[in-house]
Amino acid sequence: MSKKLLFLLLTLPLAACSYNHGKDGSTDSGASLQPSTEQLAASSFSQVYSQVFSNKCAGCHNDTLTNGGVNLTHPETAKSALSQINQSALVDHSMPKAGSPPLTHDELLILTTWVQAGGPNQAGENTPAPVVIPLAPTFESISANILQPKCVGCHNPQGKAKDDPFQTLAQLSGSDAVIAGKAELSDLYNDILATAKHRMPPVSSGEAALSDAEIEVIKDWINNGAKD
Ligand code: HEC
Ligand code: HEC
Repeated sequence: MSKKLLFLLLTLPLAACSYNHGKDGSTDSGASLQPSTEQLAASSFSQVYSQVFSNKCAGCHNDTLTNGGVNLTHPETAKSALSQINQSALVDHSMPKAGSPPLTHDELLILTTWVQAGGPNQAGENTPAPVVIPLAPTFESISANILQPKCVGCHNPQGKAKDDPFQTLAQLSGSDAVIAGKAELSDLYNDILATAKHRMPPVSSGEAALSDAEIEVIKDWINNGAKD
């Protein structure tokens, strides 16, 4: 095949895509409204104001005309209406008010992004959501989802349970609380059960009991040998 033909074949689908995107001005294009991490981090009031509010909303929601008690011309007043904006413009599609031009796909995406980012004034002011590690019987997952947020506050060398630090795999697998391969004999498993005599996290700490799914992955992790 000639290089020229190959080039054409490779670029055709791309061209088709960008064409679809470019002509898209309807509210219901079916295209994804899920913002990327980059879009979330870049979202700001000035962006959503200049690209959505100023054209489609501010005429009815400003300093003199605060329909529904909503003013979309300032970062603080707009942010204070965040959940109502989400409900009316993104869920019910009752805003912009009937009779006004609806939001285009691009405008919906910009507004969705700003709402999901928590209504930031400056880009990146709300810390981005941490990377989600799915719950699974691995040390990495147990540490990120259970031990770090719910146990390590006490189970560290300076904490209330300083004799049983749970910060590293070595500490945990070397601990008396873990009998590799035998969850039923391991305090790490027995002490998190709702029926445990001294349930962990301690009831007095105010921390909720672990969920069934969390208990299950700790059990599986120990039964699988309590390795990484
Ligand atoms: C033509 C005027 C008009 C336009 C344009 C308009 N709104 Fe409204 N908006 C209203 C009126 C009037 C109300 C008061 C409630 C009602 O009558 O539905 C309202 C109410 C609201 C509320 C409060 C709803 C609640 O649950 O209390 C929100 C939030 C809102 N608008 C957001 C927006 C957003 C976001 C846009 C642009 C995407 C927009 N509006 C465009 C007229 C408008
Ligand atoms: C509010 C502080 C606190 C929190 C939070 C906490 N613990 Fe504890 N834990 C203690 C104390 C205090 C002891 C008993 C003293 C010791 O063993 O050092 C203990 C003991 C234990 C023991 C027994 C240790 C052994 O060697 O038998 C296990 C297992 C345990 N905790 C697991 C957990 C797990 C799992 C979590 C999180 C889901 C958790 N703990 C959260 C304070 C805490």
